Amino acid sequence: MKITLNSVRNDSLRLPAAAALLAVLLGSSACRKNPAPAATDPLLKAYDVEPDWNDPQHIIPLNYEQAQGKRVFYADCVWCHADSTPAGPSNRSNVTPTPSLMNDGAKLNGLSNEYMRNIIALGGEAMGKSSMMPPWGRTLTQEEIQAVIAYARGIAQPPYQPPARTGPAYSEK
Ligand code: HEC
Repeated sequence: MKITLNSVRNDSLRLPAAAALLAVLLGSSACRKNPAPAATDPLLKAYDVEPDWNDPQHIIPLNYEQAQGKRVFYADCVWCHADSTPAGPSNRSNVTPTPSLMNDGAKLNGLSNEYMRNIIALGGEAMGKSSMMPPWGRTLTQEEIQAVIAYARGIAQPPYQPPARTGPAYSEK
């Protein structure tokens, strides 16, 4: 390598520059010794939120899985399982039997995750219910089905309480 005046100058500048950088880094880590009190607002840690369908002032924080489920819900389920959609009114009032609202805790909290998984994947008819509930097992992945259940649990009113003990895998309900 041919040493030019320029590269010598650059090398001689490198040490003080590194020292200055180190000073800045040390300085900033020193500041971290007294962190601001940890934020307790769950909304700050949420991946997404959903306003409570019964009370839009109440904002429900969604974790990562629930946020994925919200995306599935608004793509595939909102037309039948909500009264309104981002595009306007839903189709729910035209469907017989009337599909449960996806936040209807009084109805859905009593259904096990296994039952929810089955009726979503296999459709209403396979579960002895109305064929108006389509099967989603070939459209959605297992993770997406799990996520949309997590979303339903997350927005449920009254709130969903997970069972202390999981039921049998092929329970009726
Ligand atoms: C074309 C309308 C329609 C769409 C779209 C639809 N559903 Fe349904 N769903 C129904 C109907 C109707 C029922 C009620 C079946 C019955 O009670 O016989 C139902 C029942 C259910 C149930 C059982 C709850 C209960 O009250 O028994 C779950 C869970 C469910 N749907 C989830 C979903 C999910 C998740 C999606 C989107 C991936 C979805 N549905 C999309 C019409 C629909």
